Amino acid sequence: MTDKQRRTLGYLYNWTSLAGIIMAALGFVGGIVMLAMDYLNPNATVYSGIITYLVVPVVIVAGLALTVAGNLRERRRQHQAGAIPHRMPIIDLNNRQHYVSFVFAITVVFLFIILTGIGSFSAYKYTESVTFCGTTCHTPMQPENTAVAHSPHSHVRCVDCHIGPGAEWFVKAKLSGMHQVYAVTVNNFHRPIQTPIHNLRPASETCYECHWPAKFFGMLEQTRTYYAADKTNTPYTISYLLNVGGGDTTHGPARGIHYHMAVEKKIEYIAKDEKRQTIPWIRVTEKDGSVNVYKTTDKKEALAETNITATATRRMDCMDCHNRPAHQFQSPNRALDLSMMQGKIDPSIEFIKKNAAKALLGKYTTQEQGIAEIGAQLHKSYPQGGANVEAAINEVQDIYSRNFFPEMKADWRAYPDDIGHWISAGCFRCHDGKHKNEKGEVISRECKTCHVITSQGPGTKPTTYVRDGLDFKHPVEDDDGSWKEDSCNGCHSGAPDQ
Ligand code: HEC
Ligand code: HEC
Ligand code: HEC
Ligand code: HEC
Ligand code: HEC
Ligand code: HEC
Repeated sequence: MTDKQRRTLGYLYNWTSLAGIIMAALGFVGGIVMLAMDYLNPNATVYSGIITYLVVPVVIVAGLALTVAGNLRERRRQHQAGAIPHRMPIIDLNNRQHYVSFVFAITVVFLFIILTGIGSFSAYKYTESVTFCGTTCHTPMQPENTAVAHSPHSHVRCVDCHIGPGAEWFVKAKLSGMHQVYAVTVNNFHRPIQTPIHNLRPASETCYECHWPAKFFGMLEQTRTYYAADKTNTPYTISYLLNVGGGDTTHGPARGIHYHMAVEKKIEYIAKDEKRQTIPWIRVTEKDGSVNVYKTTDKKEALAETNITATATRRMDCMDCHNRPAHQFQSPNRALDLSMMQGKIDPSIEFIKKNAAKALLGKYTTQEQGIAEIGAQLHKSYPQGGANVEAAINEVQDIYSRNFFPEMKADWRAYPDDIGHWISAGCFRCHDGKHKNEKGEVISRECKTCHVITSQGPGTKPTTYVRDGLDFKHPVEDDDGSWKEDSCNGCHSGAPDQ
């Protein structure tokens, strides 16, 4: 290098700074090329996104850091050697060389700030995208990503529920994200991923962005056909109106299921287990401040007084019922009944419910293996083949791919849904008729508290419609009436007895 170049580069004339400059420049040019490619090809793979928005900025920043570090070191070295005096350089804009350098420096800084701005914004948007959250770490997120795609929330981004708006939670999420990246890199994460998620943001800051709890009101109708695991797949249909209700008196009486969320009341509870399935203690605080405590009368589940502490208490929110709003893994019974009801599986195929459930429940190590073996097993059960048999087999394989993730040990058993009470305790965690307050009142297990059955009976089409509600008839021949006392999920597991 000539003396002139050496003078121009000044303190940057050292190996560390030169390496830094080359690194930053390469990163910069590479970044621009990648950005251009990304805009031209929106369907680029997730890996190109990682390079553009996460690797390139790190390279540029590291390059600049090296440049500055080299500069400072060189400066100190020269000062210590007494080569130059301690004073700031004077910029003289009348000096042509100074002027050109000055304009050049300003332009570079300006360009750098703008491009960094665009880059950081794109990086921010990228790490908020469903592609990033759902597919970067393919295996661990596959169950949730697949389930979201099939849920009513398929157009809602992961971050809208998992992070929500605001800088504070953004930073929290990125910090815990680092830990997760580490866990995936060293292959050290839970299978299935543990729930409940303890640092999940309160519903009032996520769900409320789109749903306004006070504004739900009225009844919601559900009709379900259940197919028995017998030769003719005997159907039985129940219709009921769910008393969803609401909490805003300007839209109707504050009542019903969403009354829990009403602004009027605060419900808190203590759970005995990690999954919040056993709830021995509940406190209701009315708007006027009066308090009502319900305790279970079940001796095995009761809570010792010393365990009733503020830290153990959780305030009930949307997630205590809607814990699977986006990631529902259906049980074999639910998934098969739905497909049969819709004709995707022909209910006239003998024993199809039983055989399909058995195939779904097989022990497989990967999803791919499961799908292949389900096909093989069902083909063996129905050697006669036929279009309806092929369609049914395809549908069963599809059910498997949407709801069973052996690599992550994720399926309906790993994640109980708290919305009903049929195959997990759900509402009956509190509404089991065994939680009493001091006055001896219980939290209601009366079927009509939550829904009115409008029709029920064999077949797929309800025959009569009774607006005021029918008494439930349990569709079992030798029924001894134990459903009136026992929990439904004590007998119903989500799959037919094998
Ligand atoms: C409508 C809101 C919503 C959306 C959208 C959503 N999630 Fe979730 N997710 C939840 C809730 C609520 C839980 C908590 C379950 C619990 O704590 O019991 C959860 C749990 C999880 C879990 C823990 C394991 C499990 O199955 O419970 C993972 C992993 C996850 N979500 C990933 C994702 C990914 C990836 C996306 C986007 C593809 C996403 N979520 C989109 C609401 C959502
Ligand atoms: C970004 C907006 C958004 C957010 C955030 C959001 N939802 Fe939704 N939610 C929707 C949309 C859109 C639908 C579909 C409405 C429809 O078409 O019926 C929906 C539907 C639902 C339904 C009805 C689903 C069904 O099976 O019929 C429930 C329950 C629900 N959301 C609960 C939640 C909960 C709980 C949260 C917080 C964890 C949440 N949502 C967060 C937008 C959102
Ligand atoms: C006590 C349990 C419970 C709580 C708490 C609760 N919900 Fe619901 N919600 C239900 C039930 C039950 C339904 C009926 C639909 C079903 O069974 O899936 C429902 C229905 C809904 C629907 C669909 C309404 C319709 O007419 O289709 C939305 C949206 C919803 N809830 C959102 C929320 C949000 C947001 C919160 C929190 C503010 C919340 N819920 C709190 C039990 C609850
Ligand atoms: C954590 C305990 C808990 C869980 C879980 C729970 N509830 Fe409740 N629920 C209560 C309590 C406590 C009351 C009584 C409130 C009072 O004293 O006024 C109540 C009252 C109700 C009421 C009567 C409201 C009215 O009109 O007076 C309905 C309806 C209801 N719950 C539906 C449900 C449904 C549906 C589910 C499941 C999706 C559910 N609850 C889950 C604790 C719970
Ligand atoms: C605390 C509220 C509550 C009480 C009390 C209650 N249910 Fe339900 N029940 C629900 C909810 C909520 C659902 C809908 C769950 C869903 O959306 O999948 C449901 C669903 C059902 C279903 C359909 C099951 C399924 O998942 O396909 C039947 C059958 C049923 N209830 C019967 C009863 C009977 C019988 C009683 C009285 C012993 C009763 N329920 C008491 C809240 C309640
Ligand atoms: C003592 C055990 C037991 C209890 C408790 C029980 N059931 Fe059942 N239930 C059965 C049996 C056995 C069948 C027949 C079909 C089968 O083998 O799954 C059945 C069938 C049903 C069916 C028809 C769908 C099907 O899978 O065949 C529904 C719906 C049902 N029960 C709802 C309920 C509800 C709701 C409760 C709680 C209020 C309840 N059951 C409590 C044992 C029970």
